Amino acid sequence: MAQLEFPESKYARAFAPATVANVACGFDVLGFAVENPGDEVIVTENNSYGLKVTSIIGDGGKLPIEANKNTATVAINAMLNHLKADGGLSIQIKKMMPLGSGLGSSAASAAAALVATNELLGNPLQKKELVQFAMEAERIACGAAHADNVAPAIMGGFVLIRSYSPLDIVAIPAPASLYCSIVHPHIELRTEDARKVLKQDISLKDAINQWGNLAGLIAGLMRSDYELIGRSLKDVVAEPIRSLLIPGFDAVKQAALDNGVLGCSISGSGPSVFALSTSKETANKAGQAMQKALHEIGLDSDLYVSKVNSKGAHVLK
Ligand code: HSE
Repeated sequence: MAQLEFPESKYARAFAPATVANVACGFDVLGFAVENPGDEVIVTENNSYGLKVTSIIGDGGKLPIEANKNTATVAINAMLNHLKADGGLSIQIKKMMPLGSGLGSSAASAAAALVATNELLGNPLQKKELVQFAMEAERIACGAAHADNVAPAIMGGFVLIRSYSPLDIVAIPAPASLYCSIVHPHIELRTEDARKVLKQDISLKDAINQWGNLAGLIAGLMRSDYELIGRSLKDVVAEPIRSLLIPGFDAVKQAALDNGVLGCSISGSGPSVFALSTSKETANKAGQAMQKALHEIGLDSDLYVSKVNSKGAHVLK
């Protein structure tokens, strides 16, 4: 893949990881970061005014370069407005993950852009404070300022959005030996479209089911209780509807469960499917079985296996 150019002016470079949003039962309120893939962004000072995307590598020409449409620049703009800072910045983006995949691609670019800009400005803000600006990028990308990708992309680990108004973000400790398999079928599903298919109201029965599982998952993570994590990785709100948009979903999920994972569901708004396991061996084996299930219906896919990424977005020296 082509490389980003290192500028002569003052610059900062950052990486931000892919994320699994929702984590089955936490629609819009829970997500976690993985180690790979991820995006890289270089932000460079220049002596003009405003933000300019000077190059995007790895997007197949699909992402907008207009500063008011690109998630990296929209996020930086929100941050600069907050800081009442102006001046000129050039932005280079290296996409190292698929678009429209359910891996938090727009979030990773925004997160890396914010961490790089914060570094360039001498780190006036804490990481957690950057989340609100990345949410503006999500608003542009899919019409909803959800934080369950951007918060873990910036902060790392599992992150709960306890409340959106006011924004209340809670980092959730997770067991050290939790592995994630993500299988990305080679189809594109836009988050905006995958949100439109959801019902606006859910029954009390489904709500009880969902919040029981979400509380169970949080307790399971905090207590390193793998059986509780497994029992709680269930989604009665989004998965029953969105799974219809993912060819072979039931077979992929069954393949994961047959190979010893704790649980399996849609990653973010899909089409990627994730599973959590207690060992790398299981995560690899299950991931390959999930890919095989897709292959049997004629779909190619990528497999990403990693630990939960506790570091989140960071500056690259
Ligand atoms: N919570 C968001 C959704 C995540 O499910 O629409 C999008 O990646």
